[in-house]
Amino acid sequence: MIDLRSDTLTRPTEGMRAAMARAEVGDDVFGEDPTVLALQERVADLLGHEAALFTPTGSMANLLAVRSLVGAGQEVLCESSAHIARAELGAHGAYTGLTMRTWTHPRGGVDLPALQRLFAPDMGPFFVATAAISVENTHNFAGGTVLPLADLQALRAWADEVGTRIHLDGARLWNAQVATGVPLRDYAGAADVLAVCLSKGLGAPVGSLVGGGADAIAEARVWRKRMGGGMRQVGVLAAAGLYALDHHVERLAEDHAHARLLAEACGVDPAGVDTNIVVLERADAPAYVAAAAEAGVRVSAVGPTTVRLVTHLDVTRADAERAAAVLARL
Ligand SMILES: Cc1ncc(COP(=O)(O)O)c(C=O)c1O
Repeated sequence: MIDLRSDTLTRPTEGMRAAMARAEVGDDVFGEDPTVLALQERVADLLGHEAALFTPTGSMANLLAVRSLVGAGQEVLCESSAHIARAELGAHGAYTGLTMRTWTHPRGGVDLPALQRLFAPDMGPFFVATAAISVENTHNFAGGTVLPLADLQALRAWADEVGTRIHLDGARLWNAQVATGVPLRDYAGAADVLAVCLSKGLGAPVGSLVGGGADAIAEARVWRKRMGGGMRQVGVLAAAGLYALDHHVERLAEDHAHARLLAEACGVDPAGVDTNIVVLERADAPAYVAAAAEAGVRVSAVGPTTVRLVTHLDVTRADAERAAAVLARL
């Protein structure tokens, strides 16, 4: 079975398991796990932010990041198919007490005029005030699309003008960097606070980080503990992340090439496939998913008429070619 349902399905490699086994550990709630500290420092440096905090999941990283900018009774604006809006099960409303309003963009990108129309300055006891804008790069449900740096920078300039802040869901920011050559810190520098994940294309079993200013990260640390996310000898997991940063970033280019191969086989223009995700519009999505599984290829339906294929570390060139042949037949 070739599994293209998600890039979270990867299993740690032998090298990664060996790195985990020999990790130096301590109690991270005490701030004494040297491997976690090393990972946090390394990621903060890569992102060009003052500090970073290790979290068990991308959802928790997003929750902590967004709540550092937006309080109860305030709103965050995001694209309508953003992960924070669609796939975090209402966490931001449930725990932070914020509301969301959305704009829609075919590639999950920034529609600045639409955003400017939505933006609500603080008008006292009349309207919900916009406290932050959230963007996603790469954008999962839009098909792994890269948010152009120029669009992000234009958003930053406008946000500074009106005094609002920016959250970036960078679960797959590494893919954007590899696809475009734009350094991580250029994307990250446009955001006040961001989340990145080690457990997607990078192939670690667990782990995400929040990056931001020292104060925001200190506060996120308190909230992580409050939410039950204070972990102890978690250097064994951070070691997987450090290993992934050393060995699994540049190879994302292979995943991107495999995704374009699959796109072509499915009749999708490969020029529109920026990274490792292909989205197909199929009126028969559930039947298509079932037929693909029958033929040895697992794909997922992410909407009633939308099918998603994701390439990753555990999909070889030969797998991609075999899957392409199966999907071309369907
Ligand atoms: C864009 C994006 N953000 C955040 C997450 C959440 O990550 P996790 O599943 O680790 O909570 C995901 C998960 O796939 C994602 O695709």
